[in-house]
This record gives sequence, structure tokens and C-alpha cells, in this order.
Amino acid sequence: MKRVLVTGGAGFIGSNFVQFLLRERPELERLVNLDLLTYAGNLENLLPVQGDKRHVFVHGDIRDRALVKELFDRYDFDTVVHFAAESHVDRSILEPELFLTTNVVGTQSLLDAAKNHWNLDPGNKHSRDYKPGVVYLQVSTDEVYGALGKTGFFTETTPLAPNSPYSASKAGADLVVRAYHRTYGLPVNITRCSNNYGPYQFPEKLIPLMLHNAQQGKELPVYGDGMQIRDWLHVHDHCAAILTVLEKGVRGEVYNIGGNNERANIEIVRLILDRLGKPESLIRHVQDRPGHDRRYAIDNGKITSQLGWAPEYSFERGMEETIEWYLQNPGWVERVTSGAYLDYVHKMYGGD
Ligand code: NAD
Ligand code: TYD
Repeated sequence: MKRVLVTGGAGFIGSNFVQFLLRERPELERLVNLDLLTYAGNLENLLPVQGDKRHVFVHGDIRDRALVKELFDRYDFDTVVHFAAESHVDRSILEPELFLTTNVVGTQSLLDAAKNHWNLDPGNKHSRDYKPGVVYLQVSTDEVYGALGKTGFFTETTPLAPNSPYSASKAGADLVVRAYHRTYGLPVNITRCSNNYGPYQFPEKLIPLMLHNAQQGKELPVYGDGMQIRDWLHVHDHCAAILTVLEKGVRGEVYNIGGNNERANIEIVRLILDRLGKPESLIRHVQDRPGHDRRYAIDNGKITSQLGWAPEYSFERGMEETIEWYLQNPGWVERVTSGAYLDYVHKMYGGD
């Protein structure tokens, strides 16, 4: 791995990954970070790598096929890690079309560019020979498997049964990635992880939203009874898992990534209130999310036994560090919620 295209590298997981990869792999020659800077993308997340000459930020859309081809021609990537997506279930319920175009059509745009650039005989539809060592990694989600009852775990062979427009768009993208492997022999991997948490998460998702509201003494909107269960994965463990799959994964395979930390939403909300010394009277049970998945849980036996990755963070340590990060960075939350960071984009790059 020498020249990497990361998409969505100004978002939550992508920016953690960009910082992680530049730190962990000093031999990397180039990391091009393609991001549209939607409401969820924030250049401030990349300040820790701003002096690193290997990192090149490109403001653009994964659906812009001409731009994506130009980047492949210019930088000759050997690796693609595709994070860019519309990622919030609640927004997908309001605006499903955007999720389909960004998450499915955007993925196909990247796959085409990778296939055309990497295939050794691109004019020949039967050619399955690619430059050595290249890999396209699709960052997906456990939500493609649908919901579980009280018991059981998602494995890589669990049938896809997405329930929200978001998870349906991610499942659609996964199927296109699979098809490019089967039909064209493109060297791909798909990773499906559980709910991430950690620094730089936009305060629309459960943990940073509840933290932000609790700090301000605002109500904490818990959907339904709050007994929905998620598996929580610290973002640093996720980054390490992706690097493991890039370096050791068997191409064409899917790997589930979970943190072995199942928690009910209400437990997390109580933990945050307790840590901040705020009263439980701030909890407000609100109308449930339509189609709300009751429980997600991941069997991560494949990646742990075959590739040797394992999560390092306990939930207690991860939450303590995460809460501390948000408490130490009130300006970050303030700027992303006020939209003031867009001024920063104008200052940095001018134009739109
Ligand atoms: P995020 O919403 O924080 O960031 C998404 C990034 O993609 C933003 O920087 C945004 O500007 C960029 N983007 C959106 N549309 C784009 C486009 N058309 N072209 C270029 N860039 C575009 O998301 P996240 O939480 O960091 O998630 C990253 C990936 O991981 C997503 O694919 C998501 O589906 C997946 N995932 C996330 C979680 C989680 O808990 N956050 C769990 C499982 C899987
Ligand atoms: P979220 O962070 O949106 O992630 P996902 O829907 O991808 O799992 O939500 C996590 C859980 O928290 C989910 O069960 C919905 C619930 N939730 C609330 O109860 N209230 C909220 O305001 C939000 C944003 C989420």
C-alpha cells in the first residue's frame, strides 16, 4: 500500500482513519482524501494532519465520474477505502433519494474508476487480471442484516434484510461491490461494522447528541422505551480492523467488525447523565423511529480467528475517553452545530 484514495475522510470515521493511517504507516507515499463536505464533513477534523505533505484534500463528489477518473490517472492509487456516504438513519427517512444516489451510484462510480484503472486489459470484457496488490475496500454496516431478536448474532452469511432507506442503500452498494468481484474479478473487500463512537462524531448520532444536550441542560430524546440494543465499537478499533483487512484480508471476502459491547440505548443515556452529574429528569421518551431495528449484535469470529484483529477498547474506557474529548473540545461541537465551520471552508478554499 503506497498511494491510497480515502473517500469521506472529513467525516467522523474517515477523519479518524486518515489520522490513523498516516500515523501507523509512515512509508505511505500519498493519501488523497476526496470529500464533498456535506453538513457531516468538517475540515477541522483534519487539523492534526495539516502539516503532513502526504495528505492531499480534494473537495469533490464521488458521483463526479470525470473527477474520480482524473484522480486515478493523476495519483495511480493502489488502494481505495470508501467511507463517503449519507450515514444517518433519521435523515434517510426524510430524504431517501439522496441516500440512494450517494451510497449506491457513488459506490459504482468508484468501482468503475478502480476497475478501468487497475485492469491490465480494460478493453477486454473477459479480462480478470489486475495490477498486483490493488484493493478496493467498501466500508459497510451491520445494519444491512436487519434486526435481531433477543438472542443471536450477525455473521457474514446472515441474509441481507435492511429495514431503513439508509441500510437499504448500504446493502445495495454492497451487492454492487460483490457483483464487481464476481463479474469482473475486481479485488474487493466489504467490512460491516457495528455502531462506532469516539472523537469527531457529528452530534446527530446517539452518544454525541445526548452528551451535547446533557451539557446544555436540554432534554434527551430517547426513542420509544430506549431498550433498543446496539453493539458499540470504538472508532480506533474500527480503523485498526480496516487496516488489518487491507493488509491481510482475502480478496472477495466480507468481514464483520464488532466491539463485543452490547448496550441498551437507555443505559448509555444514563451513563452520560451520571458522568456529567446531570439529573435523569432530563430523559424524555419520544415517539419511536419508524421501522426502528430492535437489536444489532455482531459475531466477529471471522476477523479475529482468520486475520488476528481484536477490539482493544472496553466500553467503559472508550466512553470515558470520548466524553473527555467532547468536554475538552466544546468549540468543535459549537462550530459544527452552528454551521460556523462552513466559514472555515470558505476561508481555506474560497468559492462555494
Ligand atoms: P459521516 O456522515 O460522519 O461522514 C460522511 C462523510 O462523507 C462526510 O465527510 C461527507 O462530507 C462525505 N460525503 C457525503 N456524500 C459525499 C459525496 N457524494 N462525495 C464525497 N463525499 C461525500 O459518516 P461516518 O459515521 O464517518 O461513516 C463513514 C462510513 O461508515 C459510512 O459509509 C457509513 O455508512 C459507515 N458506517 C458508519 C457507522 C457509524 O456508527 N458511524 C457504523 C457502520 C458503518
Ligand atoms: P444512531 O446513533 O442514529 O445510530 P443507528 O440508528 O445507526 O444505530 O442511533 C443509535 C440508537 O439510538 C438507535 O437505536 C436510535 C437511538 N436514538 C435515540 O433514542 N434518540 C436519538 O435522538 C437518536 C439520534 C438515536
